[in-house]
Amino acid sequence: MTDASTEPIIRAAGLTKRFKRPTKKPGLRGALTHLVRPSYTTMTAVDGIDLEIIPGESVAYVGPNGAGKSTTVKLLTGILVPSEGEITVCGLTPHENRIANAHNIGVVFGQRTQLWWDLPVRESFRLLGDIYELPAVEYRQTYSDLVEILNLQPLLDVPARQLSLGQRMRCDLAASLFHSPPVLYLDEPSIGLDVAVKARFREFIRTMHRERGLTVMLTSHDLGDIEELCHRMIMIDNGKIIYDGALADVTRRFGWEQKLHLTLTEPDPTASSAAGAALTAHRDISVDAPSDTTLTITFDSRAVTSGQLIRDLATEIQLADIRIEETSAESVIRNLYEGRLHFDAEPVDAQGAPA
Ligand SMILES: Nc1ncnc2c1ncn2[C@@H]1O[C@H](COP(=O)(O)OP(=O)(O)O)[C@@H](O)[C@H]1O
Ligand SMILES: [Mg+2]
Repeated sequence: MTDASTEPIIRAAGLTKRFKRPTKKPGLRGALTHLVRPSYTTMTAVDGIDLEIIPGESVAYVGPNGAGKSTTVKLLTGILVPSEGEITVCGLTPHENRIANAHNIGVVFGQRTQLWWDLPVRESFRLLGDIYELPAVEYRQTYSDLVEILNLQPLLDVPARQLSLGQRMRCDLAASLFHSPPVLYLDEPSIGLDVAVKARFREFIRTMHRERGLTVMLTSHDLGDIEELCHRMIMIDNGKIIYDGALADVTRRFGWEQKLHLTLTEPDPTASSAAGAALTAHRDISVDAPSDTTLTITFDSRAVTSGQLIRDLATEIQLADIRIEETSAESVIRNLYEGRLHFDAEPVDAQGAPA
């Protein structure tokens, strides 16, 4: 499929997945009670997601643990059936056409392998060629390309269970691309990879993207992966999309955390507590003292201005120099993963009034 039209290749509308979870009390008694009278709660892992990805896009799909990233990927592959909403990938509804859909997609789950555990890698690859019914000529070509680019030659006779994580990931990547799918999902692909393998892995994805117009959807905790591979970022939290736009615009939208770097006129070991005391009127401020002549104040620029902070500090501390550091995309993403990105809540000042 090399259709260069701008019709979305992946489309989701109101996509929702609820899981039923047993509510079991601990211990034998709880287990028995559950047998007699099972009770369940439902939780919504993916909550009304609308998504359009056009061919050749590379999209980062990020959010804290449990946000619903892997569930979304499983819905897109057809492994899971949605509770509500619609999905099409290359014009097919994944869970209704799992096999046909499998021909259009490649998937790498960082946490598990698609290789046969006890078979030499070469045999796993051959089986995949059979499963996808690839014509011999096409198979040999892709095979030699992938083996060369990912440097798999030394691994072909090794059973998957004997591979290191990085080796296994390279083989999995090849396995996901044998059938030349137009869409590739990567779910935490670089977990545990060392720097050199990571670089090679990214380079490979970029090449496939550039040369084959591969559409990539990547979930990763690794900002390097995201910055090197993706132009667009979709952030999700609690199963809902909270941001969908250019990676470059993320800091503009969420970059409210700022840092004030202060240099003191003379060493003062008590400066950090004095600064803390001077700023008690403001919420969500942290004071660090990297040395006895410097202070770093981290604050929410929606709630208070740097000017205000400096005025409050100047009465207590002799300042020689001031530098303001704006937020980086990295700190926005870190805040998101650590659950500190409260985009919904309006910031409030110390009196509890909206800023
Ligand atoms: N098969 C399942 N049964 C019950 N709950 C599940 C199942 N799969 C995922 N969940 C729950 O759905 C939520 C989202 O999970 P997941 O999509 O794996 O998150 P992420 O990949 O963003 O870390 C989590 O709270 C998780 O515990
Ligand atoms: Mg996950």
